[in-house]
Amino acid sequence: MTAHQLFQPFRLKTLELKNRVVMAPMTRSFSPGGVPTSGVADYYARRAEGEVGLILSEGTVVNRPAASNDPNIPHFYGKQALQGWKAVIDKVHAAGGVMAPQLWHMGVVPPDESGWLPTTPFEGPSGCVAPGKIGGVAMTEHDIAETIRAFAQAAVEAKALGFDAVEIHGAHGYLIDQFFWHPTNQRTDGYGGQTLAERSRFAAELVRAVRKAVGPDFPVGLRVSQWKPQDYAAKLAATPQEMEAWLVPLAAAGVDIFHCSQRRFWEPEFTGSDLNFAGWAKKLTGKPTVTVGSVGLSGDFSAALQFGESATPRPLDELFRRLDRGDFDLVAVGRPLLADAEWTRKIHEGRSSELVGYSKEALATLS
Ligand SMILES: Cc1cc2nc3c(=O)[nH]c(=O)nc-3n(C[C@H](O)[C@H](O)[C@H](O)COP(=O)(O)O)c2cc1C
Repeated sequence: MTAHQLFQPFRLKTLELKNRVVMAPMTRSFSPGGVPTSGVADYYARRAEGEVGLILSEGTVVNRPAASNDPNIPHFYGKQALQGWKAVIDKVHAAGGVMAPQLWHMGVVPPDESGWLPTTPFEGPSGCVAPGKIGGVAMTEHDIAETIRAFAQAAVEAKALGFDAVEIHGAHGYLIDQFFWHPTNQRTDGYGGQTLAERSRFAAELVRAVRKAVGPDFPVGLRVSQWKPQDYAAKLAATPQEMEAWLVPLAAAGVDIFHCSQRRFWEPEFTGSDLNFAGWAKKLTGKPTVTVGSVGLSGDFSAALQFGESATPRPLDELFRRLDRGDFDLVAVGRPLLADAEWTRKIHEGRSSELVGYSKEALATLS
């Protein structure tokens, strides 16, 4: 197996990528008051210089008073924050990179360990932070409409600033995923329901609003996951049929590319096939997909974040086998790119002995 397929170009509407490597969105909390600094711009530009095909920003929050639990997570609204993002995209472009912001609303989450709190209570479909555990308020229909508007407005700003696409964060137990997941969505109105397809209405309306706001040609991605930090074994869709009923309407609403988050990309999603989550999403929707999860590393990110575990480099043969087979189109890489801005170039040039793996020190700085 060779890296040949990983270094093939990719086109999607107006998006032109020189290779299939995507920098996974990774929260850094280095944007005081929500404003990305020049250090943030340099950090992303270094990954562009290191040959990353598509950079996804850390999650950056939309204009809702309780969208974030951390004052150092960047905003994607307000004059100063948007100026900060303009500097980011200009530097990334100057370094030959392509970039999309990941638009985020956390929903109901535990407060950050600093004790900082937003000015209004956390909001979500039913006010639950985890099954049966109240941590905020249930959103009214007005809140829902305003939140959808905030996502659409952020997408408009992204396009106006010159970003190449947007990704909507619909994964990992945050707001959109709280609507998908029955234990956190106990609503009895039209945004709840017994089926995943019913509970996808919020996401579908949000995607439709974003699509309408940016027009037909601007690429829109949606990140989804079965797992949540509240329950790593959770399965929103227990069968391919449920997954189809979930994702096909979202594709029809305007998603161009599904970013399918797994902790370990080689794990089959359903029994009877070795296809992973991104493989099934592509097969069922016909849309391009991004895979992710422990690419090139020995351990998964949950152990890294919870226990500070290090990970060593792992060969990419299984990834190449699936990529060559056409299971997915793009490959997102998280921790290896936190630790080493040159990871992509090293893979491209076959310099595997120079790979550094990942250790928690990478979290401490924006190097
Ligand atoms: C420090 C850190 C921050 C993260 N922040 C985000 C985030 O803001 N949005 C998101 O969708 N995923 C986030 N993730 C998950 C990553 O995007 C990725 O899915 C995960 O790290 C698995 O990829 P890896 O095994 O290559 O690290 C984060 C992961 C790490 C390690």
